[in-house]
Amino acid sequence: MFSFERRQFGPDFTFGVATAAYQIEGGQRDGRGPSIWDSFSATPGNVHGGDTGLAACNHYELWPQDLDLIRQGGFDAYRFSFSWPRIIPQGTGATNAAGLDFYDRLIDGMLERGIKPYATLYHWDLPSALQDRGGWMNRDIAGWFADYASLVASKFGDRLEAIATINEPWCVAFLSHYLGIHAPGYRDMRAAARAMHHVLFAHGTAVDALRGAGAKNLGIVLNLEKSEPATASDADRKACDFGDALFNRWYLGGVLKGEYPKVITDWLGSHLPENYQDDMAIVSRPLDWLGINYYTRGLYKAPDEPGHPVTQVKGELEKTDIGWEIYPQGLTDLLVRVSREYTPLPLYVTENGMAEVEGDTDPRRVRYYEDHLKAVLAARDAGADVRGYFAWSLLDNYEWAEGYSKRFGLVHVDYETQERTPKSSYRAFQGLLHNSPQG
Ligand code: NOJ
Repeated sequence: MFSFERRQFGPDFTFGVATAAYQIEGGQRDGRGPSIWDSFSATPGNVHGGDTGLAACNHYELWPQDLDLIRQGGFDAYRFSFSWPRIIPQGTGATNAAGLDFYDRLIDGMLERGIKPYATLYHWDLPSALQDRGGWMNRDIAGWFADYASLVASKFGDRLEAIATINEPWCVAFLSHYLGIHAPGYRDMRAAARAMHHVLFAHGTAVDALRGAGAKNLGIVLNLEKSEPATASDADRKACDFGDALFNRWYLGGVLKGEYPKVITDWLGSHLPENYQDDMAIVSRPLDWLGINYYTRGLYKAPDEPGHPVTQVKGELEKTDIGWEIYPQGLTDLLVRVSREYTPLPLYVTENGMAEVEGDTDPRRVRYYEDHLKAVLAARDAGADVRGYFAWSLLDNYEWAEGYSKRFGLVHVDYETQERTPKSSYRAFQGLLHNSPQG
């Protein structure tokens, strides 16, 4: 059980759970087109155990019981993502009626259960046909994405509580095009520079398209880490500043102020798209809210090898099963920083949670949530306008390059039988959300 009560968050605070299409749906049929994660995961060496999202949690069929779990947990909202290739198999052009029907039923299923739909348009499953045309490296992706966004808005907009354009643009751009850890697996500076700009240009272009189609309550979801130097040395502090610029300020500054940090534009230099400055008014289109995914801190030291932009080190704090340090204070610090330095917009913690070893009893995860929810309360006390919190994740699911080996769920999934079993962390939320009066 948690030590605080729901009413401490105020009467309008939204509690939800989050997932993403490729990580849970399975159901790679009925006209769904291939995505970059299908080919990336089919390539030996990319994903732990060679795992793919072909079956995942079979949410494509089992969604009614998953929505029941959300309702029975007492959650107000469900953050899910649309699969672009399920809706538009080739990325542009013809739509897939079975895909549209699936999301139609899913959204109606949420509304019937009193769950507010918080949708994400892009959570990493780019249609392969668009990767064939350069994917995020091609400026034309802004138009492709905006057309997809308009379609979603016209079909579902009036039933959605909120829409996020992109989930974690750092991952879409840098992790996937410079570090090569996620699809499409590039390790190339020019590819990264282009993706870093195009992902935010596509975001802004889609915001215009969504507004044009009458959609309301628009935002973006950034993954942010609290940046800290490994030691107080000047070299480590400088590395920390660079790491913070690359991970946090590129996206915060771009989206909320229309400016990129100079240390990064200097570093990327001629690899950036020509005249990218002309796009900054679109990159920073006004939003209605900002989503922050928070998991850990980034600890930086001076690069080991010349030419390497940053070196991250593992710190001394207790770690989750995926090796990330547990650092709730960092969440308070980030929420306060964003609201003081970047934006008065309402903030949502759109993801927070931990990987833990397999099992139905997860006391460490209960403690993780307890401490991070208290960190949200502290940020609100310090003046940050935090309006909601989404736990990652409802279910154990496909953890990208880690395959099924890392489990983030409030609910255990047996991948052989697809049986769902609530863990103690789910019960802790249930106790908080059902037993204490709201408001
Ligand atoms: C962020 C991503 O949005 C999500 O897809 C992922 O599973 C979690 N972090 C945990 O790594």
